[in-house]
Amino acid sequence: KPESDEDIEEIQSLADARAAVQGCRRCPLYEHATQAVFGEGPERADVMFVGEQPGDQEDLQGRPFVGPAGQVLDDVIEKVGIDRRRVYVTNAVKHFKFTPRGKRRIHQRPGGGEIQACKFWLGLEIGFVRPKVIVALGATAAQSLIGKASITISKLRGEPIQMPDGIVLFVTNHPSYLLRIPDAEGKRRERAKFEADLVLVRETM
Ligand code: URA
Repeated sequence: KPESDEDIEEIQSLADARAAVQGCRRCPLYEHATQAVFGEGPERADVMFVGEQPGDQEDLQGRPFVGPAGQVLDDVIEKVGIDRRRVYVTNAVKHFKFTPRGKRRIHQRPGGGEIQACKFWLGLEIGFVRPKVIVALGATAAQSLIGKASITISKLRGEPIQMPDGIVLFVTNHPSYLLRIPDAEGKRRERAKFEADLVLVRETM
């Protein structure tokens, strides 16, 4: 198994990429993270959800979307009737970026250079998994997939975007955005929009 991504020619499968990512030195984020968190799901999936980066829980467990944001995503996937067996979940950036504050680790948004460096791994996942539909959860994922630095979710959501290889991209909010809305009414409204976006995904995949 390749130890680092310098053995690019040895990456022939999703399993190879999953092993190689632990040796990634393409940006400095590996220095403080516990491990790289690769995507999860079937080797061929119809839909790929792309988040920003692993959070605290994901960094510790080595699995994407196992914390609070993942719970929201799971709930909505189930509610709109997307078949989990057809879903692959991953992140635009594979290492947790944070600043320590006491005993806590506070999430920091990855920068353009980190997003760019990590596109190598996301590209491999897309190439092997070959999804029909990709869902960018939030601006970081959209930035990675569209290649544009300033993304306005409200302008892009609700409309399919044609990508190379016949892939259809949908852009929507990150589920952790829903968790941060303080008032109940705003939360309800934004959750309804998120659900509507995922209904479109279900109808397209
Ligand atoms: N937020 C993300 O973007 N990805 C995860 O895996 C968890 C939280």
